[in-house]
This record gives sequence, structure tokens and C-alpha cells, in this order.
Amino acid sequence: MSKYNIFLIGPMGAGKSTIGRLLSKELNLPFKDSDREIEARSGADIPWIFDVEGEEGFRLRETGMLQDLVLDERVVLATGGGAVLRQENRQLLTTYGTVVYLETSVEQQLERTSRDKRRPLLQQADPRLVLTELLSIRGPIYESLADITIHTDGKSPRGVVSEIMEAL
Ligand code: S3P
Repeated sequence: MSKYNIFLIGPMGAGKSTIGRLLSKELNLPFKDSDREIEARSGADIPWIFDVEGEEGFRLRETGMLQDLVLDERVVLATGGGAVLRQENRQLLTTYGTVVYLETSVEQQLERTSRDKRRPLLQQADPRLVLTELLSIRGPIYESLADITIHTDGKSPRGVVSEIMEAL
């Protein structure tokens, strides 16, 4: 059981996967991406899980994946934007690792998610409204969990990784 994971949290389009991959190389740790782990374990993709099981079904799978992962090897994990919603997940994140919040404006999130069709929550309504609403609810939660907060707007992934390395 390791307390030394690095958990990247933040909204869709914060760059958690890109930055996590680079950071894992710097730290010489394996990189895991929450959604890809869930897909590998389920044998189904994220849109299918949302379609068939709803968001609640997806959240259960997300928690199961997190529970298994923290008991396994030490990793850099890019969490899903909504992973902070459940209390049990918050507990896992703060107990088993350093939590890094990638703070990102809605404008920047829109730019980074515009070509991606794999996020069901952005297919249901105007993405700007969805992202604004989600950030108003989740922003304070991200802040309350973060050991380290890095502003990512206008910065290159490598620049963000250097800032995280300095802060760790
Ligand atoms: C979600 C974010 C997505 C994915 C799912 C739900 C959310 O992950 O887990 O579509 O609730 O914000 P990313 O933050 O990696 O896009």
C-alpha cells in the first residue's frame, strides 16, 4: 500500500493525461489514466458505460478502479474530472498520494476538448455552459483537496511539469 502516488485532479481539458505522462517519465513511475483503466477493466468504452449504466454506473466503476489502484503499485494517475465528487474517492486521493490540481479556465478547457467526442457530459448540452456549471461546483472541491495547485492557462505541458517538479 503506497502513500506516494501522484494524483492529478482538475476539469476536463486541464491536460491531466498529457501532463501526467510527462511527469511520470520525470519521476520514473508508471503512468495511469483513469478513463483508460476503467475501459480496460470493463471491456467497454466510456460513452457506452454512460449510455447503458448512466453516470451513476460510471461513478461506481471509477471508485472500484481507484480502490484497486491505490493498493497496487505506486503511480502517477490522471483522474477523471468528476472523480472528486464521491467522498470515498476524496478520502482515497488524500490518503494515498500527493494531490496536484491543474487549475484551468473554461476558455482553455473548451479549446482542449473541442475535437474530442469521447466525453459524454459534453455531448448533452452546450459545452461552455456545462463546463462553467461543473467548474462552479467542482472548483472549490479541487481547491480543498489540493496539496499543490498549478495554473495551466497558456502554459506548455513541459512548463507545467517543471512547476510540479519544483513544488513536489
Ligand atoms: C468526466 C470527465 C472525464 C470522464 C467522464 C466524466 C467528468 O474525464 O471521466 O467523461 O465528470 O468531468 P477527463 O477529465 O479525463 O476528461
